[in-house]
Amino acid sequence: MDMDNENIISPELESVEEERLENSLRPKVLSEYIGQDKVKENMKIYIEAAKKRGEPLDHVLLYGPPGLGKTTLSNIISNEMNSNIKITSGPAIEKPGDLAALLTNLSEFDVLFIDEIHRLNKSVEEILYPALEDYTLDIIIGKGPSARSIRLDLPKFTLIGATTKAGSLTTPLRDRFGIVARLELYTPDQLELIVKRSANILGVSIDEKAANEIARRSRGTPRIANRMLKRVRDYASVLGDGEITLKIAKIALNKLEIDELGLDEIDRKILETIILKYKGGPVGLETLSATIGEEVETIEDVYEPYLMQIGFLSRTPRGRIAMPEAYRHLGIPLEE
Ligand SMILES: Nc1ncnc2c1ncn2[C@@H]1O[C@H](COP(=O)(O)OP(=O)(O)O)[C@@H](O)[C@H]1O
Ligand SMILES: [Mg+2]
Repeated sequence: MDMDNENIISPELESVEEERLENSLRPKVLSEYIGQDKVKENMKIYIEAAKKRGEPLDHVLLYGPPGLGKTTLSNIISNEMNSNIKITSGPAIEKPGDLAALLTNLSEFDVLFIDEIHRLNKSVEEILYPALEDYTLDIIIGKGPSARSIRLDLPKFTLIGATTKAGSLTTPLRDRFGIVARLELYTPDQLELIVKRSANILGVSIDEKAANEIARRSRGTPRIANRMLKRVRDYASVLGDGEITLKIAKIALNKLEIDELGLDEIDRKILETIILKYKGGPVGLETLSATIGEEVETIEDVYEPYLMQIGFLSRTPRGRIAMPEAYRHLGIPLEE
């Protein structure tokens, strides 16, 4: 197996095969979507109300760290609305004309899903405002003095935007979403349910303790839990009879250099750098990024949410601080 160095925490999918796996594990209806109870409850009401009124669902903004189920939930919403979903992403829409083509090809009640919506460019975004507000599209026909603007009516559609950084959205764009939902990191119990559900779909048997072990190490993130499960399954079929036991789960996970809390070498590097090079902080994000050679975005979106959730790191206006729990975990004495 030469996949050992594949980063299990990375938000990017490694291959077509992984994409296929991810799709096969996606719940299709709201009742199968584990956790995020508040979001689910609200969504259910909004969907029922929209259906009752015979109107499209209000535009939805979903935000939260990668791998928490934004794409999955968007598909579920369109499914529950009995509508079609068209999927695109901020960087894929290069020119206003690209967005115009997408919008004019929608049918009544369709869902347009724009992933990484914070990466839309300004000129594209401006086309979106009237489309969201009045379902109209203003387009310029011709060039120079004879150019004129015409207004087209669009079908009533629902935009679902997903982003890891709600803070990077412009105010006018953000204001046009009637429903804004933040997805939270999952608890180990919820992740255990996700692992068992996925194992069931994959047709592998896993014992309670092994499912729990994967859940505890997957840093609140279903994508990571599913990846770990797949890796552990591979080990189980080579080392054992295919059944996933705690012993096999531990061997496989330790091979990945993921510790009991789900931290990898980059988490440790972040914490050690703050503690040893910057006396525990505060240290600015840019400085931290330059020191360890990881991108600011990666540190902020992928690593920090979990480190903060487990109480190892604190974000302050003056920079990042390592918390006492982090010293203890790394075995570094806390000095005054
Ligand atoms: N609430 C959930 N219940 C069960 N599985 C989930 C849930 N949320 C996410 N997943 C699984 O995690 C994987 C990643 O989810 P995805 O929607 O692609 O995350 P995001 O779009 O936020 O990066 C998918 O394979 C999906 O099946
Ligand atoms: Mg996604």
